[in-house]
Amino acid sequence: MSKNKNLNDAARAKKDEFYTQLSDIDNEVQHYTKHFPGKKILCNCDDPFESQFFYHFAVKFYEYKLQKLTATSYKTSPIMGDLFNPVEDKKVAYKVEINEIKILPNSNRDGVAVEDVKALMNELKAALGDKDSVTVGKNTLSILKGDGDGNFLAGDFRSKECIAALEDSDLVITNPPFSLFREFVSLLFQKKKLFLIVGNFNAVTYKEIFPRIMKNEMWLGYGFKNTVGFFKSPYEDTAVASQHKEGLIRNSGVTWYTNLDHDKRHKPIDFSERYARTPEKFPRYDNYDAIEVSKTLDIPEDYFGVMGVPITFLDKYCPEQFEIIGMAKRGAGDPALKTKVYTPADYLNYSDLNAGPVLIIDGVPKNTYPRILIRRRENS
Ligand SMILES: C[S@@+](CC[C@H](N)C(=O)[O-])C[C@H]1O[C@@H](n2cnc3c(N)ncnc32)[C@H](O)[C@@H]1O
Repeated sequence: MSKNKNLNDAARAKKDEFYTQLSDIDNEVQHYTKHFPGKKILCNCDDPFESQFFYHFAVKFYEYKLQKLTATSYKTSPIMGDLFNPVEDKKVAYKVEINEIKILPNSNRDGVAVEDVKALMNELKAALGDKDSVTVGKNTLSILKGDGDGNFLAGDFRSKECIAALEDSDLVITNPPFSLFREFVSLLFQKKKLFLIVGNFNAVTYKEIFPRIMKNEMWLGYGFKNTVGFFKSPYEDTAVASQHKEGLIRNSGVTWYTNLDHDKRHKPIDFSERYARTPEKFPRYDNYDAIEVSKTLDIPEDYFGVMGVPITFLDKYCPEQFEIIGMAKRGAGDPALKTKVYTPADYLNYSDLNAGPVLIIDGVPKNTYPRILIRRRENS
């Protein structure tokens, strides 16, 4: 069974319940803290009683010098966590707006801890009772209603209440539903928001995402180790026994997407290959004016023409070192980059061949994998 099964299924069958571990959030978010002071952060796919995103930012509220933290949850999300929440709270969509967090008296702590957040949420919950909204001190807990016109359910990030919360925020940080990733990202751009979000690595090839990466409007973050993430989830883990982690589900091909600048993206690749030494290692495509570089680490130091590289190149992409020209793939690819379009008169499998870059091997045309077309910048 394919390792990508769970994420691919998520997109196909709306399997969206993958809950991010606090350790993964800590690991990624540490690289962006310079962006946080004065910001209003929104976690808009996050139950404030369970989400580790909410928990992370609430605990670090003063350390990050946040102005405000808002979390909204979706009505149909199951409660996975039970960190703070009793089970009977299922299927209620909340919005919490945090402007201050008090440290519990007699705690002998200087900084906010999870106990303080838990006490704050319990206090808000008790004060809410049967009401729709309650404010205690500077914090507010509300029940979301949805659009009420059969359009978007309560807590849907596209609903009017959630759009209002988005408009009131600077920076969205969450793991959104994989099945709505395109729509989620489009909305962030439409509302001109900063973001740091988890997504399927394959999303780089979406025609709604790749052009934005090419234009340096968004890029990959630091990512999960070997692009493998482990999430809490109600679904069955399909990982082989040696890769299984108790209570978690393994997703290969997962990464972080952002438009926040970070140090890694300015770190150039160290070259180890030279084109002049072994040109035969870098064959030219039959249908693109580019050479094939089958591994990112084999990019030759002395080649300044167009090269086709694996999509995982984006994990190492430094915009000062390379320019992205396009994608050699049907869909996200720009057909104008092709130097040849095959017809039935050329080959019987002309349609398959037109799907991506083609190498002629022993006189026979062969498809390679989808490639990103890049060019080394002069003086890089
Ligand atoms: C990948 S999970 C991540 C949950 C949480 N952000 C985390 O990382 O732990 C995506 C969440 O979005 C919820 N969801 C699904 N469709 C949604 C929608 N249209 N609007 C808002 N949330 C949605 C799912 O129920 C699920 O709880």
